Amino acid sequence: METNEIKAQVKKDFENVKNNVELAQVSAKYNGKNGVITGLFSAMRELTDKEQKSKAGKDLNELKTLAEQLYNEKELQLINEQRAKDLSGIDVTLPAYIIAEGHLHPITKTIEEIKAVFMRMGFSVEEGPEIEKDYYNFGALNFPKEHPARDMHDTFHMEDNYLLRTHTSPIQVRVMEKNKPPLKILAPGRVYRRDAMDASHSTVFHQVEGFLVDEGVKFSDLKGTLEVFTREMFGKDLKVRFRPSFFPFTEPSAEVDVQCVNCKGKGCATCKQTGWLEILGCGMIHPNVLKGVNYDSEKYTGFAFGMGVERVAMLKYGIDDMRLFFENDVRFLKQF
Ligand code: PHE
Repeated sequence: METNEIKAQVKKDFENVKNNVELAQVSAKYNGKNGVITGLFSAMRELTDKEQKSKAGKDLNELKTLAEQLYNEKELQLINEQRAKDLSGIDVTLPAYIIAEGHLHPITKTIEEIKAVFMRMGFSVEEGPEIEKDYYNFGALNFPKEHPARDMHDTFHMEDNYLLRTHTSPIQVRVMEKNKPPLKILAPGRVYRRDAMDASHSTVFHQVEGFLVDEGVKFSDLKGTLEVFTREMFGKDLKVRFRPSFFPFTEPSAEVDVQCVNCKGKGCATCKQTGWLEILGCGMIHPNVLKGVNYDSEKYTGFAFGMGVERVAMLKYGIDDMRLFFENDVRFLKQF
């Protein structure tokens, strides 16, 4: 057969291909092990006349290239036809719809943010039990027995001197009992008080405790540390103030207020017209607490602070009711 005739046949065969099965069949017919073109190549190698052989070789190469080209074109055509069929009836210009993803609760998120700020300052994280001994919650923290300061804590008491911890400060004692100074610890956790629930109180809430014990720790170290924290957490525009206060386990003691995010200090319902919101209690660890864990209170000093996570979150996100954190209404949660 003349190569021109074969070429015409190859073209016709590829043109008639309607699907992948036929494409494979036509391809095998020419290029397969027993294919026409493969056969012609074998025959060409038998030729003895040099000139004839070289012409036949050239023709065959042309034929082979043509078959390959037709194969590729047909393959692409079939892919495009299939794609058009798959997409028929689908409007590819419609916007994609968002798949709702789960995420962290705003309180968890706030704890993570607080942790991140202090970890950058070199604090490490510890935890303690929620069911606590009276000794750790009060006794070891220099609350004398029957002292009215215990009443501030409206405690849920249990049997055998156990209670639900009213603050995260017992973790200070637990960590100091087991470790020697220097210490730089952050301790987040859930705490319980027998308070009636309202916009700014809850029977269950969260605190983050922080404390540092070393030689020569001063009140100015506490102030500096907390100023870095409030700046990182709320930005540098909000003012911070330290107010003298009282806690049995710190001396001197202070409370820290941040300018109300809502009214920027002018006075509104959120800050009860004061322009300030209290976020934490703090002070220099009382020597009696240090002595209680057998630290040399002449050599070592330390500071401690405890902040309310809900308060911090309310300030940061402009939330005016603490109950929202516990109702778990998705319309609220999904905004974070
Ligand atoms: N534990 C105190 C409270 O719950 C806060 C606090 C912690 C104060 C550490 C001083 C030092 O109110």
